[in-house]
Amino acid sequence: MYLIPSRSTQLARLFSLLSQGERIAHISAAQQSQLMTQHGNTAHAKFFKQQSRQERFHARVFSSAALWIGSGKTNTCCKHLKLFEKSIENALHRRDMTESILAVQVILESIGKIILEGIDARMERQRYGFKKIRAIILAQEAEHHEFGQNQLLHLTQNTNAKLSDMQQQSQHYQELANNIFDELAPLFDHLGADINRYKSELNNEIPDHLKTH
Ligand SMILES: [Fe+2]
Ligand SMILES: [Fe+2]
Repeated sequence: MYLIPSRSTQLARLFSLLSQGERIAHISAAQQSQLMTQHGNTAHAKFFKQQSRQERFHARVFSSAALWIGSGKTNTCCKHLKLFEKSIENALHRRDMTESILAVQVILESIGKIILEGIDARMERQRYGFKKIRAIILAQEAEHHEFGQNQLLHLTQNTNAKLSDMQQQSQHYQELANNIFDELAPLFDHLGADINRYKSELNNEIPDHLKTH
């Protein structure tokens, strides 16, 4: 199947951004694993370490796809994704596991899932041969997301993590995520994706107890 060059360039940019998101998840999960080791929680340290390895694999898959589809041209930058990354870095610097789980496993995972599912249908129509690998990646992401949600619930019930703080943090990261969608609107428009649907899907991915309304 032949793609017009401009559209394939846009798809390459999207894969490049997905790869950047995966790299953020890879680095963050490695740090979360270290924090859990320091807390003596080896089971969770192991989960985050495995997640970190999987995210590195996802990043490589997406950057290879970007290079292949874009014929080597994949320079893409998203200011709000950088802000999202900075915010996670700050949380991890403060050793705030609750905020980092909310940002990485719950919200960042959701952004990736929504975009990947969105382009999943498109790629299927255009017959790129990624079906199996995309299914593996989506299954691993679902596992990370579920782990994150369970952990947040556990932290709310068993530690002094305040629900109101978590709701505020959730709102902060959701706003950053919506800003990412807005910044990338021309790219999504070009690919025929609906960012308003993405935003409402993201809202659906956030657990009810973390919403302020
Ligand atoms: Fe991933
Ligand atoms: Fe993930």
